[in-house]
Amino acid sequence: MLIFSTQADLKAHLKSVSSSKITIGFVPTMGALHKGHLSLMTESLKENDLTVVSIFVNPTQFNNKEDLEKYPRTLESDVEKMKTLDDAIIVFAPSVDDIYEGKTISQSFDFDGLENQMEGKHRPGHFDGVGTIVKRLFEIVTPTNAYFGEKDFQQLQIVKKMVEKAKLPVNVIGRPIFREKNGLAMSSRNERLTAEEKEKAAIINKTLLEAKEQFGTKNANEIIEWVEKTFKKETDFKLEYFEIADESTLLPIETKVDGKKYRAFIAVFVNEIRLIDTISLN
Ligand code: PAJ
Repeated sequence: MLIFSTQADLKAHLKSVSSSKITIGFVPTMGALHKGHLSLMTESLKENDLTVVSIFVNPTQFNNKEDLEKYPRTLESDVEKMKTLDDAIIVFAPSVDDIYEGKTISQSFDFDGLENQMEGKHRPGHFDGVGTIVKRLFEIVTPTNAYFGEKDFQQLQIVKKMVEKAKLPVNVIGRPIFREKNGLAMSSRNERLTAEEKEKAAIINKTLLEAKEQFGTKNANEIIEWVEKTFKKETDFKLEYFEIADESTLLPIETKVDGKKYRAFIAVFVNEIRLIDTISLN
């Protein structure tokens, strides 16, 4: 398995093996790989001649220093997991210095307001950090197709917006959420949960499923109230937000309109660990 730790080496390799006829699939990650990440890689391997996976814990998208410090870094076992999937995956695992060259700061982006909702509201600067790293990685990897999970639905919409506005030559492909048996969305942060917390965290997805059920008959505010009440009873959990929003603008819904797509979004702290999830309501 080829593992590159500098952009210069990766670029030189890609230049030597690729041509205009070759398609490059790209899966950007921050590592601590789980089956959700691997499902994106499987899709990329199926649809492209080459697959590049980046593993880079991007400091500029963390608004919380402790979250950045505690983020799991498990390159060796990540490489083992990718090897079992396909030894032909090309891994890019650069250092912060290699990517940021001494200036670890974000560029400012205008994502037409998508950045001001939900995660953007609660994690100031987060999407400038995501935009900065994804744009930089696209420039280095020059992918034909790039794969993102719907788990981070707002991120997916923001990357699509960035590509559209900057006219970047890449197809952004969204893929469904991979879940644990109990419904908990797989996440690298789940590694920080105890077995008991993991079990209890099933309530996050259960709440979304119940909200979807209620969406047929109740209005958004009634459902929000119900979710807030539900989490008040759960002492190990702190609800940060629950929103029902239009899938394309991400604006909170006022009234339902036929033909539009809606989604519920949730962010919850389980003790100190922040988890997010989302579900389509259509
Ligand atoms: P990370 O959290 O490592 O996620 C990498 C990709 O895997 C993202 O597109 C994410 O949506 C997807 N993913 C995570 N959990 C998933 C699940 N349970 N099912 C399906 N896909 C899932 O998202 C990031 O990293 C970073 O912000 C990044 C895009 C790499 C930029 O730094």
